[in-house]
Amino acid sequence: MSHHIVEVKNLKFTYPDGTCALKDISFRITHGESVAVVGENGAGKSTLLLHLNGYLMSGNGIIRIGDYPLTKETLKEVRRTVGMVFQDPDDQLFMPTVYDDVAFGPLEHHGDAHEIMRFYSFQG
Ligand SMILES: Nc1ncnc2c1ncn2[C@@H]1O[C@H](COP(=O)(O)OP(=O)(O)OP(=O)(O)O)[C@@H](O)[C@H]1O
Ligand SMILES: [Mg+2]
Repeated sequence: MSHHIVEVKNLKFTYPDGTCALKDISFRITHGESVAVVGENGAGKSTLLLHLNGYLMSGNGIIRIGDYPLTKETLKEVRRTVGMVFQDPDDQLFMPTVYDDVAFGPLEHHGDAHEIMRFYSFQG
């Protein structure tokens, strides 16, 4: 198993309108580390994070999540391990109950509601 949970090498990204958002970003996050990405508005934080689960794929640079290089072929596997919490809670919470909201992602992946209940220790 890789020692690095996240590894990014020489990542560059330009939006279709020509805005260059990431210029040659490289870093490693190892097991046990907690990392804050800090920067002014428009610095590229969201653009960077959206690359870590393949929502944006630039084709420039290398991203590894654990043992997987992030490619179209590994996208599904990577998305099982990378969770994102949106900046605006109204974008994040959209189901009528806490259970439904927490279960939404795992149900999309596994489709087994009983397993999800066990996993999250929810009582009916
Ligand atoms: N969909 C888009 N199309 C074109 N340019 C974009 C798009 N989204 C972001 N940008 C531009 O890319 C750059 C990086 O933006 P990004 O949203 O990643 O910054 P951020 O650090 O997350 O900012 P904030 O602190 O405001 O959330 C900025 O110049 C921004 O205007
Ligand atoms: Mg942002």
